[in-house]
Amino acid sequence: MHTIIKAVKRKYESSELKTPEFYVGFNDVVSNDFNTLFRSLPSDRSDKVFAVPGDFHGRLLPPSSVHFAYSSWALQWLTEVPKAAEGLKSPAWSGEEREEVYDAYLSQFERDMESFLKCRDVEMVEGGIMALLIPGVPALWDPQKESLLFRGLNFSDLPLSTWSKRLSESMSRTFNLPYYFPTTEEPRAILQKSNSFIVERMEILNSGASLNVDGHVACLRAVHQNMLTHMFGAETINETFDLLLKKFQASSIYADPSSDRTVMIVAILKHKHKNI
Ligand SMILES: C[S@@+](CC[C@H](N)C(=O)[O-])C[C@H]1O[C@@H](n2cnc3c(N)ncnc32)[C@H](O)[C@@H]1O
Repeated sequence: MHTIIKAVKRKYESSELKTPEFYVGFNDVVSNDFNTLFRSLPSDRSDKVFAVPGDFHGRLLPPSSVHFAYSSWALQWLTEVPKAAEGLKSPAWSGEEREEVYDAYLSQFERDMESFLKCRDVEMVEGGIMALLIPGVPALWDPQKESLLFRGLNFSDLPLSTWSKRLSESMSRTFNLPYYFPTTEEPRAILQKSNSFIVERMEILNSGASLNVDGHVACLRAVHQNMLTHMFGAETINETFDLLLKKFQASSIYADPSSDRTVMIVAILKHKHKNI
């Protein structure tokens, strides 16, 4: 937010216009610890901050109140595991139903992006700018040589059942995660269909994560610990992540941070004027 505010201020300072006041609303799910977030902000800020707890697939803010919206590494979260992936006999991403499940995940991602855009359409001012950073995967990648930051969790190369002896086979085989990492072209196709936003610019960047094995496991743990605890119980967690660490250490792919092919899809959108 600091970088965005600095850039907007610079633009105003080079014009005749008076620099506006800045109000920054931080959104996350209601269980997020907003107090810790606010305590961690630098005290010498000129902007005012407020929390916006709630699901970003629904309405969060008053109509026409947002000039700049920024979403980073969050739109991969789906509102639910697609129905086609539930109740399968094999892990959704590796069984015979793979194509069907892939399509169901992509459709869910598309529906969720559309509801996100529909709500921001109401909340943003005309001409407002939205920057989206969506983690993604290349259309083609070689699992024998390359790794992805998150795919290992539901991909057959690292099924959950091999992580922990205590996760029963049947539970881990049917455990699918409510997120989807799009390929580089999928968000573009969805965004270009929008009647409310114009795609001003899109870029594909390396994720820049370059995590070593400890960092990779810490990242996976930060993201998944709550979900796994909820599904399988707190007593499985340490063992699960200890085993994952050993598995990554033994893998020449995961031990080499430069083999990560995760990408970041950057989209800059402009909110259309209603009469366009
Ligand atoms: C990987 S973190 C990214 C955090 C931060 N934006 C960043 O770039 O460092 C994803 C965040 O999105 C939040 N999130 C996921 N689904 C959400 C939803 N439907 N509504 C609001 N927040 C959500 C998660 O709680 C989590 O804090």
